[in-house]
Amino acid sequence: MVNQPYGGKLICRELTGKKREEAIRDAEKLPSLSVNSWVLSDLELIGIGGFSPLTGFMGRSDYEYVIERTRLADGTIWSIPITLPVTEEQAKNLNIGEQIALRGTDGIIYGTITMEEKYDYDKKKEAVNIYGTNDAAHPGVKKVYEKGNIYLGGPVTLLRRPDHNPFAAYYMDPAETRQMFADLDWKTIVGFQTRNPVHRAHEHIQKTALEAVDGLLLNPLVGETKSDDIPADVRMESYEVILKNYYVTNRVRLVIYPAAMRYAGPKEAILHAIVRKNYGCTHFIVGRDHAGVGDYYGTYDAQELIGQYEEELGIQIFKFEHAFYCKSCENMASAKTCPHGEENHVHLSGTKVREMLRNGKRPPKEFSRPEVADVLIKGMKKK
Ligand code: ADX
Repeated sequence: MVNQPYGGKLICRELTGKKREEAIRDAEKLPSLSVNSWVLSDLELIGIGGFSPLTGFMGRSDYEYVIERTRLADGTIWSIPITLPVTEEQAKNLNIGEQIALRGTDGIIYGTITMEEKYDYDKKKEAVNIYGTNDAAHPGVKKVYEKGNIYLGGPVTLLRRPDHNPFAAYYMDPAETRQMFADLDWKTIVGFQTRNPVHRAHEHIQKTALEAVDGLLLNPLVGETKSDDIPADVRMESYEVILKNYYVTNRVRLVIYPAAMRYAGPKEAILHAIVRKNYGCTHFIVGRDHAGVGDYYGTYDAQELIGQYEEELGIQIFKFEHAFYCKSCENMASAKTCPHGEENHVHLSGTKVREMLRNGKRPPKEFSRPEVADVLIKGMKKK
């Protein structure tokens, strides 16, 4: 059976039909707040139930519990604050109890919040407790330092979903993926989070996991990422070509995950697993340095942390060792399965790969499928 939503019930904070039209008309008269794409993606994920059991942006007690204990105030495990930041100047003009329209930078109203709280918070503490560092060079910490000093808390209503072009064809909400898995008669489904173009190690762990379950949900994150990550359109194209050439189509579904990337390593791995449970997955892959960046986290920190909460989360974690191609095994392998020395292993740094691609050179086929390499070379040229 498709997995239970986290907290037992799939949250829906979205209006449809006549009610939605009315609410949009009413929202035009409300005080409004311009929010960035990060906040919009959080609003959407709350609205469609990806962040179940959250029903809004966190108030102070949930926020502080998450920061200090990796739980919501009611004890439910939660690892990343989902908050609505504003500047002190903006906060001054907004009153508790008021409904506020949330507008994108395009001026469109995407939803509303009923503001129950406004509160200040300790950025350094958030950085250290969530990201494990207060270093402003960390891309997630940088975002914390850049945002407003006040958080607004309260339940939200989603009135419009962002359009997700050019990936609209790959968009499904959790209710839809759950229905799809039921229709496919998949009882066990493994979810895969990624923010990178697909390489052989990804393919290896996905397919190894797939041997043990009915289906694979490839769920690339297409929200905000740091500027030197490969853009989502190129990554999605890399998935299209590899699916066409190397996967059994009726065992895989490609669906976008519209969230922003936090780079919070272990803490973000927990959020990633919760969201995939809400999408219906029974299993979730956590490989090496999941959601990591630079040298901020140890290779298996994310596996260790999520391992402590696995039972309570109610989703089984497939933990994978660092995978590589071994020339002596003539296979993808890991330290668990390959007896040969490092000199047999094909290891390429991200920097090296990018340099090859920029020069129009395909990385070795042991590292990247040639079809994927061609997509990346083309993507690099466009950039
Ligand atoms: S992430 O930030 O979304 O985690 P990425 O897209 O690189 O980054 O990784 C997606 C998933 O594949 C993560 O679970 C990660 O741990 C895993 N992974 C990536 N490369 C390897 C590898 N060589 N060996 C094992 N797991 C890996």
